[in-house]
Amino acid sequence: MTADLFDSVAEAQPSREQIADGAVLLRGFAKPIESGLIAAVRAIVAQSPFRRMTTPGGYQMSVAMTNCGERGWITDHTGYRYDPIDPRSDTPWPAMPLVFRDLARRAAEQGGFTGFAPDACLVNRYEPGTRLSLHQDKDELDFSAPIVSVSLGLPAIFLFGGMARSDKPRRFRLVHGDVVVWGGPSRLAYHGVAPLADGEHALLGRQRINLTFRRTR
Ligand code: SIN
Ligand code: FE2
Repeated sequence: MTADLFDSVAEAQPSREQIADGAVLLRGFAKPIESGLIAAVRAIVAQSPFRRMTTPGGYQMSVAMTNCGERGWITDHTGYRYDPIDPRSDTPWPAMPLVFRDLARRAAEQGGFTGFAPDACLVNRYEPGTRLSLHQDKDELDFSAPIVSVSLGLPAIFLFGGMARSDKPRRFRLVHGDVVVWGGPSRLAYHGVAPLADGEHALLGRQRINLTFRRTR
């Protein structure tokens, strides 16, 4: 009885773990607003569906992506960029929901970055086997703002490395509701996601959804 009570208290308490200089892992931070986040993702996807984009080198990415906010991150044969228009619909990306903006600002603050006002949110969908290779988020004009990353659905192994691609990344298991914030000295850290293990999530089924919030300019 007592053990059960302590378990549920531990589960309900978000924690804050420093994973590098300028980077924190906030376990369970998004959990209290999970239904609002999932409803917002569904509305975004109804307007701008997930699609697998092509890299400048001609490869199709295994992660399926869409965006919301003033600008969206896209890649095609001409390169990577932020664009206010969804090339698929030729209309602006869906607006960034208040529940997203508020979460991103509160999470950034926990990482020591006050006043974070993202203008872009990349929404990634991973299915079993999907991976994201090590990369830096460096298509933004201003690196003074952090990156805020929210995990929903199936667990994933998040790889967080150093400033060089060759730095051996550390592995963090991210579950539904976890948030990672990296900025300042970690802003250009290499990061990626190991191939997603199969599973079934109670709310999202056989997938992981990741939201990454950015200030692009
Ligand atoms: C990203 O680097 O854009 C996504 C990271 C993640 O899915 O956790
Ligand atoms: Fe990234």
